[in-house]
Amino acid sequence: MQKKFEFEYEEFDTKEGLAIEDLALLNAAYDAVETAFAPYSKFKVGAAARLSNGQIILGSNQESASYPVGICAERTLLNSIGSQYPKETITAMAISYIPHGAESDHPLSPCGMCRQSLLDYELRYKAPIKLILAGKTGKVMLIPSANNILPFGFTGSILGK
Ligand code: THU
Repeated sequence: MQKKFEFEYEEFDTKEGLAIEDLALLNAAYDAVETAFAPYSKFKVGAAARLSNGQIILGSNQESASYPVGICAERTLLNSIGSQYPKETITAMAISYIPHGAESDHPLSPCGMCRQSLLDYELRYKAPIKLILAGKTGKVMLIPSANNILPFGFTGSILGK
């Protein structure tokens, strides 16, 4: 039997098409980019999450001289929220970046590890995380749930008791 996976998302030509709340979160992601520690890749990534209590929390990639020890912006942020705001759900996350000091002009797609972590978080709090993906300029993608970008993801339900 042939099956198909597809999902709906929104795309805007520029960030000016975003709702005020989403634009504010994207602007916060731009601020987060500035806190990146990326002396090795020179690829700075920033993420901003809106919590259910209205707070906006920032995270950025933090690299290590021992390269694999470094951590992406999204997981820096998720782990910090999980430990500092364990009672809040994340309603949305905006992600942006500055590659090699240049202006980014298209969205960044989160890496596979971060997709897993985002999915873990959605399942843990039973709430979708809306993703707002954009460079400093150019088109913006609005994805309703992290689950959309990790089809057939591995979840704890298979681990048993
Ligand atoms: N990076 C992120 O922070 N998020 C992603 O989704 C992809 C990659 C970081 C990891 C590393 O510090 C740099 O970007 C280059 O891969």
